[in-house]
Amino acid sequence: AISPRVFSGVQPTGNLHLGNYLGAIRKFVALQESHDCLYCVVDLHAITAQLVHDDLPGQIRSITAAFLAAGIDPARHIVFNQSRVSGHAELAWIFNCVARIGWMNRMTQFKEKAGKDRENASLGLLAYPSLMAADILLYRATQVPVGDDQKQHLELTRDIAAKFNNDFSQKIAAAGLGVPMAMGDETVNGYFPITEPLIDGPATRVMSLKDGAKKMSKSDPSDLSRINLTDDAEAIARKIRKAKTDPDALPSELEGLAGRPEADNLVGIYAALAERPKADILAEFGGRQFSEFKPALVDLAVETLGPVTSEMRRLMADPGHIDAVLKDGGERAGAIAERTMKDVKQIIGL
Ligand code: ADP
Ligand code: NA
Repeated sequence: AISPRVFSGVQPTGNLHLGNYLGAIRKFVALQESHDCLYCVVDLHAITAQLVHDDLPGQIRSITAAFLAAGIDPARHIVFNQSRVSGHAELAWIFNCVARIGWMNRMTQFKEKAGKDRENASLGLLAYPSLMAADILLYRATQVPVGDDQKQHLELTRDIAAKFNNDFSQKIAAAGLGVPMAMGDETVNGYFPITEPLIDGPATRVMSLKDGAKKMSKSDPSDLSRINLTDDAEAIARKIRKAKTDPDALPSELEGLAGRPEADNLVGIYAALAERPKADILAEFGGRQFSEFKPALVDLAVETLGPVTSEMRRLMADPGHIDAVLKDGGERAGAIAERTMKDVKQIIGL
């Protein structure tokens, strides 16, 4: 069987925010205790929506610093940036030939990011999920911790793996590379695992502080919509103070949050930061006004994020160290990737 392995990536585009931290990075940290993990700064993805960046090397280092500051241990696990390992682009090309155009056209993130002028979006933006499948399957990763927004892309990764396994089943067997894997009640032979998404916990979708219908995102033009990992205490306080709410007091039961997306979001953020159930938070704050709840949320956010932020700053002062971590991680990831590409080429006949 394929041994359990975790892969996930973060794009080096703009400031990391609370959604990235609670929805992804904090889960990366927790999984280190039980799994072999690869955490990747996906720089090839960063050029799909916008080709030219002011300081891509600085952005790559900044995401790496966030990984390390949050507690990812690059000695026990692999931390690297995607473009260092040529297998990502190579396998993505092969997956472009496995995936169907119709699959890509159905991706809601492509529609959102391409906007109205779809003909003018890069071909890379359309093929983004194919590269993401390559990131994961190059390491034959079995689990991928991500936020809720990545669910559809993960399903496509599974479709690509299943089609590859099916289309090449005889060649996989002939090459002696078939691995027994459970598919429902059956056990079938395949080469790529059918990767499980890990989308759970209290903050799979942190919403914008300005609009309870939009997810918190790096690409939102309003800086007030998100708490950045690099924000200081004063900025965190200002953003939470200005966060949209309704005039009612906090309810004391979960049902009282129905139809109140902004209130629900702030309570959810508090619960995730405190690592306590939402019901607990409502039991404590039910009946009180947001004017009382918000300062408590500010204190908690500053207390939780402060150490990460200051460690990030300390790490960013030594770019040589960050580059050495990425180089070492790239070499270790490259060794795994090389074996996969050798197998894949043998299976296809390249
Ligand atoms: P963004 O979507 O902000 O550009 P990325 O695409 O680099 O960030 O995503 C990095 C990780 O953070 C992914 O696992 C993604 O699912 C997660 N993530 C992004 N936004 C949120 C959010 N608002 N809430 C929870 N998780 C999120
Ligand atoms: Na995203």
